[in-house]
Amino acid sequence: MTRKPLIAGNWKMNKTIGEAISYVKELREFVEDIHNREIVVCPPFTALSAVGAEIKTSNIALGAQDVYWEKKGSFTSAVSAEMLKEIGVKYVIIGHSERRQFFDETNETVNKKVKAALENGLTPIVCIGESEEEREDEETENVIEEQLKNGLMDLTKEQFLRLVIAYEPVWAIGTGKNATPEEAEEAHIFIRKLIAEMFDEETASSIRILYGGSVKPDIIKELMAKENIDGALVGGASLDARQFSDIIKF
Ligand code: 13P
Repeated sequence: MTRKPLIAGNWKMNKTIGEAISYVKELREFVEDIHNREIVVCPPFTALSAVGAEIKTSNIALGAQDVYWEKKGSFTSAVSAEMLKEIGVKYVIIGHSERRQFFDETNETVNKKVKAALENGLTPIVCIGESEEEREDEETENVIEEQLKNGLMDLTKEQFLRLVIAYEPVWAIGTGKNATPEEAEEAHIFIRKLIAEMFDEETASSIRILYGGSVKPDIIKELMAKENIDGALVGGASLDARQFSDIIKF
């Protein structure tokens, strides 16, 4: 099963519209000849529309950092999947650990968001991963299993095949301390095993699993050399167009 590498940049709460536009103008040029990867940028909501217009005719796709599950109504501040789709969003990050940590995201809300995204034809990038304490307590596999099985509950095989999973150990996010390629590969193998249990081997081997957590240009090649690592979700290093393009080109 060939899985096309996917490199996504999660900008988090960074960049004004002006900064975002200068960035994507640069990035477009750096990566215009790259066709063997899927490239995604996930700007904050305010810059989505402008970035979307700027990359419309490029090989870069647009992603959002969150979505709300309701279709419309009195949900102050929330943004629906239909609204994202309308402005050209193709991917949406769901269940990022920062959302879990600071905004009360749970596996239950992740599940609702994933379903809403899929119903609107968006590709969810679902984030899972253990904290430092959970790893020290040897709870990593339990946490991953719970996040995967509860966050992705009640999906059909056809729906499941349309999503992307990002393994992001919380202790590696923004710390400069990435998981070693071996640690990441071990977690990815475990995730694939769980998917095979939930569905079958074919589904397990079709799903792309990204690694996220302090990914930098100097480590990406080693990570991507692992059989079960299909791409990266990049935070800090995606904020600079040159660094991000070096990661894309690994
Ligand atoms: P860093 O690359 O800054 O560690 O962030 C990773 C991340 O959270 C991507 O979603």
